Amino acid sequence: MQKILPALVFSTIIFLLVDLTSCTHDVIFDDDITMPVDTMDVEPPIDTMGIPCDPEVVYFEYEVLPLLISNCAVSGCHNAAGQQGGVILDSYQNLINTTDFEPYDLEGTDIYEVITEDGDDIMPPAPGNPLTSEQITLIATWILQGGQDLECDWEGEECDLTNVGYADVITPIISTYCLGCHSGANPGGGYDLSTHAGVQEVALSGQLFGAVNWDAGYVAMPQGGNQLSACEIDQIESWIEAGALNN
Ligand code: HEC
Repeated sequence: MQKILPALVFSTIIFLLVDLTSCTHDVIFDDDITMPVDTMDVEPPIDTMGIPCDPEVVYFEYEVLPLLISNCAVSGCHNAAGQQGGVILDSYQNLINTTDFEPYDLEGTDIYEVITEDGDDIMPPAPGNPLTSEQITLIATWILQGGQDLECDWEGEECDLTNVGYADVITPIISTYCLGCHSGANPGGGYDLSTHAGVQEVALSGQLFGAVNWDAGYVAMPQGGNQLSACEIDQIESWIEAGALNN
């Protein structure tokens, strides 16, 4: 114990020092970036059935685009109608065509620069919230993997519907697809989905499932984006059926 304690104190101080000197938006990677296999080699029309998704690879359509739709391609900003600064972020092609984009190069890529900018120039601008560090790391990883538009059998992944938890399943879905619009001072339609209470309210009223399942009589969500995967919709349904708990 006598030896362990000073060692612990020392390492804690070093840890704090390192932590303090690192800039908040520096992306730190533990391991080397995994390079994706080019699934676009498949002859068109691309049949993704059976192309397994590599958990180490970031897939634009399923992981990056939803963030852009929710946080950037919103009304009056970078959707086709708004195109602020000529930038449209509602599809891979528009991202490549309307921004400076350098595969493998974070500094040469506009979207990375602006989401990590200091001060007033950061995107999304207030009253929008900055992306979380996990979301920034995801986008950075995608760029460092070559910024491709790879496909895989996303729908074919196994879907776990047992004890769907608010914290570990529902919150990540909402944060990826919805929070860009449904948080802050002026949330879409007046629905703030950044708290459990806010999500539970639309869950128990039937609006949440109706909206994500694109049922008639509801406004289809995520607005301007692709429908959630069948698994994500099933997970939301199963969580609602169990009472939409804060579990
Ligand atoms: C691009 C912005 C945007 C995104 C992304 C978005 N929403 Fe919405 N949402 C809105 C707006 C705006 C409204 C109000 C629409 C209206 O009343 O015409 C709305 C309405 C809703 C409603 C009420 C629908 C109804 O018919 O009663 C629900 C529920 C909802 N959103 C949930 C979600 C969920 C869940 C997600 C993510 C999966 C999401 N939204 C993503 C902007 C967005």
